[in-house]
Amino acid sequence: MDRFIIKGKNRLSGEIAVCGAKNATLPVMAATILTEGEFVLDNVPNLIDIRTMGHLLRILGARVEHDNGQLSIDTKNLNSWEAPYELVSKMRASIYVLGPLLARFGKAKVSFPGGCAIGTRPVDLHLMAMEKMGAKISIEHGYILAECDRLHGADIDFKKVSVGATANSLMAAVLADGETNLYNCAIEPEIQSFIDFLNEMGARISGKGTSHLQITGVSSLKAINSRMLSDRIEAGTFLIAGAITGSEITLTNCVPTHLGEFFDKLKLTGSDFNIEGSRITIKPASEIKPVNIKTAPFPEYPTDLQAQFMALMCLADGESIIEEGIFPDRFTHAAELNRLDASITIEGNMARVKGVKKLSGAPVMATDLRASAALVLAGLAAEGITDIARIYHIDRGYEDFEIKLQKLGADIRRVK
Ligand code: EPZ
Repeated sequence: MDRFIIKGKNRLSGEIAVCGAKNATLPVMAATILTEGEFVLDNVPNLIDIRTMGHLLRILGARVEHDNGQLSIDTKNLNSWEAPYELVSKMRASIYVLGPLLARFGKAKVSFPGGCAIGTRPVDLHLMAMEKMGAKISIEHGYILAECDRLHGADIDFKKVSVGATANSLMAAVLADGETNLYNCAIEPEIQSFIDFLNEMGARISGKGTSHLQITGVSSLKAINSRMLSDRIEAGTFLIAGAITGSEITLTNCVPTHLGEFFDKLKLTGSDFNIEGSRITIKPASEIKPVNIKTAPFPEYPTDLQAQFMALMCLADGESIIEEGIFPDRFTHAAELNRLDASITIEGNMARVKGVKKLSGAPVMATDLRASAALVLAGLAAEGITDIARIYHIDRGYEDFEIKLQKLGADIRRVK
């Protein structure tokens, strides 16, 4: 398995382009199941998770080709409705095929997604929504079996805001018979761009940007071309790379309005930003101030930037509290950061971070996608060598992560 070797304390400088968003692209790829035709998607990041979803679509019968940022998907011969265990177990987002398979074929057999490092990851809200629209659901031998001649519109109220359940329900509702109302939906930017994508395919969804979405089912949809939304989580990760190394760096291809609460919190730590259109330049603080955060659904502070912020708070001049409001177990990075001489204690879904004067490099292990990114950020700021094992987690969600950091002047290399 690949590892990263980082020699810390380099000052960074320069500019890098942010890629398309994994979490905007995965539901779009699943939605191609909804109709026969050829889709061409641009600004698609080259990531393990995107390749896994592409492989799943191939197993269902689609033709999928991906080269330098462009993904073409032909679903004319898509004829299977079974998502096998070996793929679903690799990536939770495989559950996204449940809604479109039901909508297109009236049946679906999807392996029950396993948990992962950030908790059990239930799918009860996905199944509740499908049942409300008429699907018969049973769970046998680790598979979700869903059947329904034709889905019908329904009023669905999510007891919890769920990005995945919102996306899955949208895909089931766009071809269902009649009106569907979804309440307490996710309003993440990736959901808003997904609504645009479905409406461009001919769907009739209103309420974008609000927690109440209304869908009028249509009889068919068409294949389209589309450009994927820029990745706000990659942008936030690199901005924290600037803050933690005290470096002024510039990101291009960003959507600054998607990082509202993140900017507010980073400014409180002492960083400042220069924003011109899709370009963001960070002006780092000379001294990092401690700031408390609580993660919650958009537009609050994003859970996918919690681990990265914790790395920054390890070097703050004081104590900060990080509360994880979405995935209570999402603190596996804390123990690894403590190996770099951070001082973090976990109390339930809260982490108490006592800032230290310096971090010192050590061998550590990546556990989940964003935790791995946090370890890289800490390694960039630590004295000496940090050796990070199992960095395939990073390759799931960041394209050419170490290459972009090298371009900014970081001393980081990948060893097989
Ligand atoms: C999406 O996961 C993202 N993944 C996650 O990003 C992100 O952290 C998360 O949304 C929250 O923003 C993709 O978009 C592919 P949820 P998802 O359903 O949809 C509970 C990354 O690093 N829940 O919004 O799985 C759930 O346990 C990944 O890129 C239920 O209880 O998250 C959690 O506590 C990690 N029942 C909360 O809701 C359900 O049926 C929010 O989860 C579904 C979810």
